[in-house]
Amino acid sequence: MTDHNVAVGVLVSGTGTNLQALLDAEASGSLGPAAIQVVICNNPGAPAIARAQAANKTTHVVDHRGRSRAAFEDALLEALGAVDLVVLAGFMRVLTGHFLQRFPSRVVNTHPSLLPAFPGLDAAGQAIAAGAAISGVTVHFVDTTVDGGPIIAQAQVPVLPGDTPAALHARIQVEEHKLLPRVVVELASRIARDRAART
Ligand code: GRF
Repeated sequence: MTDHNVAVGVLVSGTGTNLQALLDAEASGSLGPAAIQVVICNNPGAPAIARAQAANKTTHVVDHRGRSRAAFEDALLEALGAVDLVVLAGFMRVLTGHFLQRFPSRVVNTHPSLLPAFPGLDAAGQAIAAGAAISGVTVHFVDTTVDGGPIIAQAQVPVLPGDTPAALHARIQVEEHKLLPRVVVELASRIARDRAART
């Protein structure tokens, strides 16, 4: 890694399709100055881990079970090391100020709804139950609220007649897999520019 790289840590919990979108973007040279330095998963059985390993990424499993919240966050911080940007890509744990203060405005999350609508679990199911005509995906900065931090970018996805939560979520993910890498490129480019301006 050179000084021009912006080191990114990715936190995952599950399937890892958003992680895969980031890995694919990096492999194809379209992640800008962002370099995925480490992938951390809180769920030992998650398929996301194999995706990271297949891309030869440094991978850590930091299980939240059996640890206090503070000890869990300390272990995450240690595994992250000196990254410049943290991406929550389907990371299903809430982070507190203890963690977030280490990375001010440097932690982003992707959520499958047009926030502030439908925060929390089963966002696609919530959108269908509410009769929404349009849903989508939001990438936002993470603060201590659940899915409530400042919005960076959104993409809309129509809710179709007869949609199931799984079908809607799958169509939202098509957009999510484009939007998240795009935002990472933008933020990493900004970090790289700020760094260059200071030297
Ligand atoms: C994504 O849709 C993300 O928005 C939500 O959880 C899902 C994770 O999917 N927070 P994956 O693990 O990236 O496939």
